Amino acid sequence: MNLWRSTSMHPGWPQSVGPLRVPAGLVRLRPVRLRDGAVWSRIRLADQAHLEPWEPVAELNWEARHTLSAWPSICSGLRAEARRGRMLPYAIELDGEFCGQLTIGNVTHGALRSAWIGYWVAKERNGGGVATAALALGLDHGFGPVGLHRIEATVRPENAPSRAVLAKARFREEGLLKRYLEVEGAWRDHLLVAITIEELAGSATSALVRDGRASWA
Ligand code: ACO
Repeated sequence: MNLWRSTSMHPGWPQSVGPLRVPAGLVRLRPVRLRDGAVWSRIRLADQAHLEPWEPVAELNWEARHTLSAWPSICSGLRAEARRGRMLPYAIELDGEFCGQLTIGNVTHGALRSAWIGYWVAKERNGGGVATAALALGLDHGFGPVGLHRIEATVRPENAPSRAVLAKARFREEGLLKRYLEVEGAWRDHLLVAITIEELAGSATSALVRDGRASWA
């Protein structure tokens, strides 16, 4: 029997996950923390054009939402959700440095055992397999210690890099959600993709290693 599953309100949290080696370097997931604020703010402000087309609109503008002083309440909100067992909010580290986020959200247990997954990676770190490694680590953790059966994601059809990342992890398309989310001032269609534990065929990280895309650290 899985001890975490039976004793913790939130199995799998707050353990770190990884590392896994990809061409960009060593990738690891660890819980977000208050002292991520400076690097989080610097990257998010510099990468507005890279990130904003794929993220939901909010009341405040981009700059106001990503000042250094915005982070403490965002971070403590994420960690509070984690303590309640609803979320696993990770920082993605590349060679020990914060370079993005991967979040597993809306975690449900019982007969559903489902969650969504989402991620972003700093533009200057793109193209070296960081998101691919982070997603595989997140899947293995979700289907392992967290005890999930199904993990889903939504992605804009225009987001070719993210669709490539999801395809490498063997997510399957389930349909098109029309006018699903307000992004950049309009209601945008999103593809719903998902994977269940049966489709994983073992482990997502092992599959990456077998495919020659990653190696054990
Ligand atoms: N068309 C098709 N494929 C592309 C394109 C393109 N224009 N550009 C890049 N790719 C491919 C790359 O070739 C690579 O695939 P390959 O390994 O088979 O060659 C893949 O996209 C990228 O893989 P990684 O290097 O693992 O990904 P990276 O670390 O660069 O991060 C990410 C990708 C997360 C999409 C990053 O660009 C990002 O943060 N974008 C902005 C935010 C975002 O879109 N987040 C995802 C939202 S959807 C969701 O969360 C489910």
